[in-house]
This record gives sequence, structure tokens and C-alpha cells, in this order.
Amino acid sequence: MASETFHLSRREMLMSSATTAAVSSIVSETAEAAEVVDVAPTYKVALKVNGTSRALTLDPRTTLLDALREHLLLTGTKKGCDHGQCGACTVIVNGERINACLSLAVQHDGDAVTTIEGLGTPERLHPMQAAFVKHDGYQCGYCTPGQICSAISVLEEIRRGIPSHAQADLMAAPQATGAEMRERMSGNICRCGAYSNIAEAMADVAGART
Ligand code: FES
Ligand code: FES
Repeated sequence: MASETFHLSRREMLMSSATTAAVSSIVSETAEAAEVVDVAPTYKVALKVNGTSRALTLDPRTTLLDALREHLLLTGTKKGCDHGQCGACTVIVNGERINACLSLAVQHDGDAVTTIEGLGTPERLHPMQAAFVKHDGYQCGYCTPGQICSAISVLEEIRRGIPSHAQADLMAAPQATGAEMRERMSGNICRCGAYSNIAEAMADVAGART
């Protein structure tokens, strides 16, 4: 009987200790979580988006793509892979095309960003947008904002004489040939396969310039 009493009280003691430890652990984890939330840093970022100054306060891990889509509600720029593999998120930053999913917003403090929303309006399309419509350069349209931002930048790169792998002679001035444009657009994937129509739209705009 005595040993049973001892056994019970020992068991109770162990249960009580375990409960105390579990509660302490939960309290400690909750306090740590609250501390993490409290100290998570944010940074002020100033962007000029489509000609308008925008001030943001962001978690430093926010990509430029998420800053545009989630914070500025400019959802024309699309998230495809979020890993730099599809080109759906292409925007133009200080005149250069980039994958917005691979770039942190805080890296672009003071930069000028152009998205599909800044290129034209339904009443007054950018020439590349008009050419995509004319040549049916899309089907579902998901890749199209990135394709158009890239296409505009490609023609600008060729105009500025920036070489590509498609050139036999890297020192020669690049020309807006089909092969040249296809090579330079190779980072923009179209799941619908509208490639030939996109190439026609680009050729149309390139021809109009010459
Ligand atoms: Fe950026 Fe695919 S979403 S490359
Ligand atoms: Fe559908 Fe390109 S038009 S993914």
C-alpha cells in the first residue's frame, strides 16, 4: 500500500513536471515568435513606376514582382515560375529588361520601372501592343505582358548594338533578323506556343522603324 502511494505520487510528480515544462516551452516559443514579429525590419523604398513616384515600406525579402503586384496592385506583370525561368514577370528598369521575380524591391530604390500598364492605354496602344493584336501574338495572354516588355527591349538592344549569341560576328552591328529576335526572346516562354506570331509582330515593329 505504501509503495502504491509512493508510485502514485511519483507519477503525479512526473506528470506535473512534464506539464510545467510543456507550458514553459509554449510560453517561451510564443514570446520568441512575438519578438520575431516585433523586430522584423522593414525598409522604405522609392520607385518611379510608369512615371509616378511610389513610396513603399517593405520587408526586405519582397521581390520587385511582389512589390508591383501585391503592394501597388499592378497585376499586369505576371508570376509564372517565380524562379527566373519563364519571363512572365519581365519589366523594364532604367531602360533594361529584367525578371522582376529575381530582384528584390529594395535593390531598386530610386529606379524607374515600366510595366505593361505604363506602355499604352486601350485607346492608345504602344506600337508593340498594337502589333501583337494585329498579328495575334497571344492566346491565353498570360505570358503576353512579359513578351511585350521583352520585345520592346530587344529592339532597343539591337538598336544600341548590343551583341547576341545569334551573331556570327560579335563585333558587327546586330540586325533585327528573325533569328536574332528569336534568340533574344528565348527567355520568354509561351505555353500556348504563339512564338511565330510574336516574331511577326516584332518584325512588323522593327520594319516600321527602318
Ligand atoms: Fe519570373 Fe518566371 S515569374 S521568370
Ligand atoms: Fe498563353 Fe503565351 S499566350 S502562355
